[in-house]
Amino acid sequence: MEHQDGADACDVCGMVPLVPRLNGATQLVVRSQAMQELLKRAARFAGSDAPIAVLGETGTGKEVIARIIHSNSARAKQPFVAVNVAALPADLLESELFGHSKGAFTGASAAHRGLFETANKGTLFLDEIGEMPLPLQAKLLRGLQDGELRRVGESQAFAVDVRIISATHRDLAQRVREGLFREDLYYRLKVLTLTVPPLRQRVDDILPLALHFLLNEKTSAAGFDAEAQTRLRGYAWPGNVRELQNVVKHGAALAVGDWVTCEELPEDLAGASYGANERTLSGNRTVAAPTALQSLADVERAHVLHVLQACHGDQTEAARVLGIARNTLWRKLRQWSPSI
Ligand SMILES: Nc1ncnc2c1ncn2[C@@H]1O[C@H](COP(=O)(O)OP(=O)(O)OP(=O)(O)O)[C@@H](O)[C@H]1O
Ligand SMILES: [Mg+2]
Repeated sequence: MEHQDGADACDVCGMVPLVPRLNGATQLVVRSQAMQELLKRAARFAGSDAPIAVLGETGTGKEVIARIIHSNSARAKQPFVAVNVAALPADLLESELFGHSKGAFTGASAAHRGLFETANKGTLFLDEIGEMPLPLQAKLLRGLQDGELRRVGESQAFAVDVRIISATHRDLAQRVREGLFREDLYYRLKVLTLTVPPLRQRVDDILPLALHFLLNEKTSAAGFDAEAQTRLRGYAWPGNVRELQNVVKHGAALAVGDWVTCEELPEDLAGASYGANERTLSGNRTVAAPTALQSLADVERAHVLHVLQACHGDQTEAARVLGIARNTLWRKLRQWSPSI
């Protein structure tokens, strides 16, 4: 079931797939089974007040998921306040989050309420939570545990009722092991977790998303020709949905005819012509003809190495994408390179 048309509640997950933003709403596009499952889980989380951690690679859509949870929760009419923890130096971040009293530091000529107060009764979205400095982590933990916070320079605590959604592209458990993230805060924040899969693991979302983005561009093209579609589906998308959005803008700007063609896509996609993300060569998927005729063994080797690169050398992930056992992948790699 697609969440593409209209603003009615989706009959798969029950949520309204419109993401409110200051400059209009974003329509959520979901086709793959993996994202449908994720949204069903998100819909259940929307009914609770427990903290949620949204995990996933850069550009996968962590913020849109946070926003859709808020807009489908009982807090929908209250503020959704987003703060990028990585964007501010530690002391500024502290007064931004918790506020400060008049005269708390040089230049504090008036009292200032923090984002926690602004988000009261609503949702506070802490983006890039993995980058939060340790002293602030302690203060955040106290706030989460007791529901009480203090402005910088004030001894009086105030109570807030805020639902926390945090997001990170980092491996938070690893940050904990490295001593960069407090273990107690980690468990507090990830009471509920959602892991947004990378785009290369939900190939069925690629073309619907690409068409959706194309519709929002001023262009002569109404779609992508068969070869461009194969390229889009085959590319590894290290920058995920955001990268796809930019690729579509590129294609839309250069397109002259009814279809965006391969020549109008960025050069980065050039190596993806035989479909790195396709798990099977059977079925009705379009596979572009290779320019020079190669043996099956050569094509297999190139394809396996391409997938392995796209998975940043993670053999377990590469085996999953290829649809083969981890041992089989290992045997193939050893066969091609006896030193492995
Ligand atoms: N399923 C989707 N449907 C429509 N648009 C989407 C979808 N997922 C992501 N987008 C769009 O892709 C862009 C990136 O999404 P978002 O900012 O939520 O990603 P992110 O995971 O928070 O990225 P980062 O890790 O870089 O902060 C946004 O413009 C968002 O509107
Ligand atoms: Mg983000």
